Amino acid sequence: MNETIKTILTRRSVRSYQPQQIGEKEMHEILKAGQYAPSAMGQQPWHFTIVQNQVLLEKLQILCKASFQHSENAAMRELASSDEFHVFYHAPTLVIISGNSKAVAPLWDSVLAMGNMLLAAASLGIASCWQHAPIMVYGSHTGPASLSSIGLTFPTDYIPYAAAVFGYSAQPFPKAEPRKPDTVTFLK
Ligand SMILES: Cc1cc2nc3c(=O)[nH]c(=O)nc-3n(C[C@H](O)[C@H](O)[C@H](O)COP(=O)(O)O)c2cc1C
Repeated sequence: MNETIKTILTRRSVRSYQPQQIGEKEMHEILKAGQYAPSAMGQQPWHFTIVQNQVLLEKLQILCKASFQHSENAAMRELASSDEFHVFYHAPTLVIISGNSKAVAPLWDSVLAMGNMLLAAASLGIASCWQHAPIMVYGSHTGPASLSSIGLTFPTDYIPYAAAVFGYSAQPFPKAEPRKPDTVTFLK
């Protein structure tokens, strides 16, 4: 099996991180992988916001956790009630990809860019986990104002579509769940 496919098959979402920050060189390589993702009409309509300020990360974490408390999903409400639960699992870096809402397909472009970044990180031994909470918070009625109030803003006309945390894992890499059967149709 070649190294690329091995990385795709072994990448896992990690939910426990060491405080050690990712090196700048590695961060730039991961970003570059995101910037080389395909995009509709080659528009590259993305903006990468890298949050490595731990005070800001904690403020955002608190906002996200508060939004869980109001979720219609019982499991999310239960998570929010746990003192131990940290939305970002104490990871030292959060990346938010926002996309130009006037582009052809900014959501898909942003998600593909983040997919590249998760895989690039895994190839460098850096763990990651997709984060839906910041996107949910932005999408709520008061979201953009709340994020702006803690100092998290995006370029004009850009909407955050994808977010993920990155860092060094504090646990052995989890094993993949078995793949669901019957998810493929060949028409030959
Ligand atoms: C759209 C999307 C949203 C996700 N949101 C979260 C999240 O908010 N928190 C989290 O811990 N994991 C989140 N995940 C990670 C999934 O739970 C994870 O990918 C899945 O359980 C499969 O595990 P694996 O990534 O280790 O293969 C999300 C994944 C996707 C694709």
